[in-house]
Amino acid sequence: MTAHRPVRKAVLPVAGMGTRFLPATKAVPKEMLPVVDKPVVQYAVEEAMEAGIEQFVFVTGRGKAIIEDHFDHAYELEALLKERGKTLELNGLLEDLPASGSVSFTRQQSPLGLGHAVWCARHLVGDEPFAVLLPDDLMIGKPGAMAQMMKAYNSNGGGVIVAAEEKPLEEVSRYGVIAPGATKGNATEVKGVIEKPKMEEAPSRLCIIGRYILQPEIFHELDRKEKGTGGEIQLTDSMARLIGRMPFHAVRTDCARYDCGNKVGYLEANIAVGLERPDIAPALKDMLKGLRL
Ligand code: UTP
Repeated sequence: MTAHRPVRKAVLPVAGMGTRFLPATKAVPKEMLPVVDKPVVQYAVEEAMEAGIEQFVFVTGRGKAIIEDHFDHAYELEALLKERGKTLELNGLLEDLPASGSVSFTRQQSPLGLGHAVWCARHLVGDEPFAVLLPDDLMIGKPGAMAQMMKAYNSNGGGVIVAAEEKPLEEVSRYGVIAPGATKGNATEVKGVIEKPKMEEAPSRLCIIGRYILQPEIFHELDRKEKGTGGEIQLTDSMARLIGRMPFHAVRTDCARYDCGNKVGYLEANIAVGLERPDIAPALKDMLKGLRL
């Protein structure tokens, strides 16, 4: 058991094909699509940093190289901004850059599923607990979702923590669904998990969303490379095998979640985040009022 060891590393799986967002995602990774003026993936990195994460492991695939460029210096651009006296923009770029050596990339050579993507990070994570953030689940809140999960991790005996939301019954078949035990505060004990169950077989309406704190034991389970629902190697199946071996809780954060992997969720995220931004909110509100719906 490895409870309470500090969580220093985050894995960001970004190797998915993003087929629900074609043609936008033919040449541009969906994680690089902007919400207002920041790529979706950067929100996840900032959320992880706020939660104390020091190292970032991206699991990428073909066509995802610009994610690597995004987290590096852009010397020509920086020199140009400096020359033109655009200090605000330049400082913004520099502040957003993760520390040198804190970002690493590994490739998932075929998109065999989320479990397989996480397994691809095993050597970079090593024998310690780690966070997983799926960037297309955009979580907005203060403190951020991962910071709230860290708190739950520390107060529930470490182990495994997943973020979860109550969903309407007709939506549960899209998620990993939890068989709940006792609830204390915002944390519910997890007695079982099932990936994309049929509505009538769902043990509850409490669904896992894209934030996890995992223990390195998960890699031994993922080593089996067993295919689950949809013929993919599912993270949920390996998490299920850890139940009973370590504490396992689902946390309901008070953050807003926007599923930027689908079109309507992405549009909603842009409007919601835009309405929180003092520099554009007034104009955006006027624009929305003027829409003939
Ligand atoms: P999704 O279920 O959204 O799949 O993956 P997808 O392929 O990205 O998108 P669609 O369904 O074709 O539109 C959830 C998360 O898991 C990652 C994705 O990048 C995303 O962050 N993922 C999924 C991988 O890294 N590898 C995989 O094999 C599958």
